[in-house]
Amino acid sequence: MPAFTATAPAKIILFGEHAVVYGRPAIAVPVTSLQARAIVRPEPRAPHGQVRLVAAAIGLDALMEELNPDHPLRRVVELTARELGAAYLPACQINIQSTIPVASGLGSGAAVSVAVIRALAAYLGKSLPDEVVSTLAYEVEKIYHGTPSGVDNTVIALRRAVYFLRGQAIQPLRVGRPFTLLIADSGIPSPTATTVSEVRAGWQQNPAFYEQRFDQIADIVQQARLLIENGQPEQLGDLMNRNQILLQEVGVSSPELERLIATACQAGAAGAKLSGGGRGGNIIALVDEWSAATVSESLWKAGAQGIILTTVQ
Ligand code: PMV
Repeated sequence: MPAFTATAPAKIILFGEHAVVYGRPAIAVPVTSLQARAIVRPEPRAPHGQVRLVAAAIGLDALMEELNPDHPLRRVVELTARELGAAYLPACQINIQSTIPVASGLGSGAAVSVAVIRALAAYLGKSLPDEVVSTLAYEVEKIYHGTPSGVDNTVIALRRAVYFLRGQAIQPLRVGRPFTLLIADSGIPSPTATTVSEVRAGWQQNPAFYEQRFDQIADIVQQARLLIENGQPEQLGDLMNRNQILLQEVGVSSPELERLIATACQAGAAGAKLSGGGRGGNIIALVDEWSAATVSESLWKAGAQGIILTTVQ
């Protein structure tokens, strides 16, 4: 019996995190060196409709109906089966593997969802448009995040750079000239739901302060979009530094992130900022072929727990 496999990349947000939850644009890109993978194997001897979910990395090996109805994996399988018009799935085992660190702003949850959706569609001999894959994954993102903007599922389903605005059709972003980023992991897990709800609490107390920062972030995103499309990525560094200051002001940075960002800039990065929910997780630094090795070495020395070099194209 054949197996049906699908993969989905990690992602990083280049500009606009948090403000994007409040209707401002963001820019996000896939990171293909990290991937989630779902493998669906038919189990012809098992009763019709029986689905076994296996994710060794989190110690999961269970029948789907044993899982809480709100379990993200159960939810994604049920939503996909419904979308594909399958009242019952032919019995199968779904194996999930991922090299994407969890709770570090790399979109691991959305990537697992997208991989499972596409592998199940293939198992049923169908394929789903990117928009539908993204919408299904968004439903699952709500379990992880509470009020996700939808940027993660969009960029991961599309597998291309996106200019994202909540509630609008997916807009792929043309990258005029490739550029290189270092992604450095602070090693501090930081669930996005926590920082998103803290920002909301602050916004409720002082909406004018937050709205002003979100507007400034939106301006930065627009400028970044033009630079990326026009093939002038070396000028993005300054915008990254400015976005970072605004993220500090909305309270989602941390001393550890600031230290890594300062290290990257002192070692020759053109700019650096946190990426994703903040407080922990990853920073990104804009480098070129000359600075990449020095910046990377300095980040390791400053305590980075993992470093990925990625090319945006
Ligand atoms: O932590 P991440 O990369 O999964 O994304 C968080 C991005 C936020 O803007 C903070 C939240 C959201 O839903 O867009």
